[in-house]
Amino acid sequence: MKILIVGAGAIGLLLTGIISHNGGEVVLFSRRSEVAKYISKNGIKIISEKNEYVSRAECVSSIEPDAKYDLAIVTVKSYDTANIAKLLSEKLSRQTYVLTLQNGLNNAETLANFLGHERVFPGITMQSSTLLGTNEVLHVFNGLTIIGNYAGPPTEDVRKIAHSLSMYGVPCNISENIWRNIWFKLMVNSVINPLTAILRVKNGLLLEIPFIDTLIKNILEEAISIARLHGHEFELDDCFDKIIRIIRETGNNKSSMLQDIEGGRKTEIDYLNGKIVQLAAKHGLEMPINRALTILVKGIEKMNNDSKINKWRNSIQL
Ligand SMILES: NC(=O)c1ccc[n+]([C@@H]2O[C@H](COP(=O)([O-])OP(=O)(O)OC[C@H]3O[C@@H](n4cnc5c(N)ncnc54)[C@H](OP(=O)(O)O)[C@@H]3O)[C@@H](O)[C@H]2O)c1
Repeated sequence: MKILIVGAGAIGLLLTGIISHNGGEVVLFSRRSEVAKYISKNGIKIISEKNEYVSRAECVSSIEPDAKYDLAIVTVKSYDTANIAKLLSEKLSRQTYVLTLQNGLNNAETLANFLGHERVFPGITMQSSTLLGTNEVLHVFNGLTIIGNYAGPPTEDVRKIAHSLSMYGVPCNISENIWRNIWFKLMVNSVINPLTAILRVKNGLLLEIPFIDTLIKNILEEAISIARLHGHEFELDDCFDKIIRIIRETGNNKSSMLQDIEGGRKTEIDYLNGKIVQLAAKHGLEMPINRALTILVKGIEKMNNDSKINKWRNSIQL
């Protein structure tokens, strides 16, 4: 199976490095030619607690029209999905399947709008990585990847994709109901990401904050009510217990949203808590807790940007 990984960030580099290291045929796509050249020349360095290796991989900065890839895996941030969907619809052969492993809601739907839902496979990954440099990632957690069909029960094609990924070192299961998995991952991220980003703490420290359990339950109650309107039933205490366990298990991790805030980058808040608020509004409902978290994170993003602009202004005056 010839695989194209789309987006040379933390998760794209990790997947490319692992698949190539385990003998898979994989090409990475970066929009920046200097990055593509650098990675093709120097490989991808993967550092984990257990080991460290450099994996050779081809990185390209353009996708040849009608390029014969069997599978493209989308690893850009949610706010870049529409751009990528358009590009892939113009460049990929109609036989290429497209898998998304992004967080947040609406990524698979956006891809399907451009590519047709028969070619799109929604998925989630519990792999966790942090970008250390242009070609270097810290592999924080070797978690399971779960994929499914856009509509209907798992097909032979989705089984083949899961089998190939597992064979090349990315443990992958298939789900009978991938949308439910995506909603649960949304809940996990809608709790951990904004709280750690606002409080500027690693995941584990969340549990030290007084009354945080009440706030977590409030976030979940709202998310569960919207999930129900989309046909997915979740039980509050069960979700709460699972998320507390995840926070404990990932205690030493810095969430991606906290990393984005620290790096002065845009976050995915609009596709997490912001999406809960947006979907609720379509049903005439208010989600005050998720709205407050969205406003706070967007405020922090803006202050980050303003301070960059101020620094720039000051440097001009000097
Ligand atoms: N990191 C994790 O551990 C992890 C785990 C599970 C899920 N996820 C999800 O996976 C997605 C990616 O996360 P990430 O942490 O890997 O983000 P990231 O480090 O910011 O990487 C995103 C990459 O996408 C590239 N990109 C954006 N627009 C592009 C375009 N039009 N053409 C080509 N490349 C483009 C960016 O390129 P530039 O460098 O040129 O900006 C960047 O390299 C997110 O939805 C995230 O929530 C991440």
